[in-house]
Amino acid sequence: MSARDLFSAASAAMKNAYAPYSRFPVGAAVRTEAGAIHAGCNIENASYPEGWCAETTALGHLVMAGGGRVTEIAVVAEKMPKIMPCGGCRQRLAEFATEDAVLHLCDTNGVLETVPFSAVFPRGFSFEDGK
Ligand code: THU
Repeated sequence: MSARDLFSAASAAMKNAYAPYSRFPVGAAVRTEAGAIHAGCNIENASYPEGWCAETTALGHLVMAGGGRVTEIAVVAEKMPKIMPCGGCRQRLAEFATEDAVLHLCDTNGVLETVPFSAVFPRGFSFEDGK
C-alpha cells in the first residue's frame, strides 16, 4: 500500500507543531490494522522537559479514537530528512505496533526509506520478557 496518505497526514500535522523553543517542528502519523490514520505534532513547554514528541501526540489520538494496532508509522521534520523517533517514542510506538510494522523515513517531499520497526527497536522493555 502506498504510504503517500500517511506521509501527507504527518506533514499536515507538522504544520500544527507548537515548537517555539526548539523551532524544530515534527509531524507523525500512524496507520492501524483497520486502516485508520492518526496524526500528531510535537508540543513544547516553557518548562522544557514537559514538552512531548509528535509520535506521542499521534498515539494519544489513536487511543482516544478507540485504539488499535499500528502497522505503519511516518515521521517528518522540515529541518531533518529521515528523522528517527526518539528512544522514548520507540518504546511508546512498540506498545501498539504489530510485529511486522514498518517505519517510513521522510523528508518534506515524501517517503525516502521504509524500514521494519523491529529493526529500529529490538528488545524493548516488555512484561513478556524473561518468561
Ligand atoms: N521530536 C519529536 O517530535 N519527535 C522525535 O522523534 C524527535 C524529537 C521533537 C521534540 C522537540 O519538540 C523537538 O523535536 C526537538 O527535540
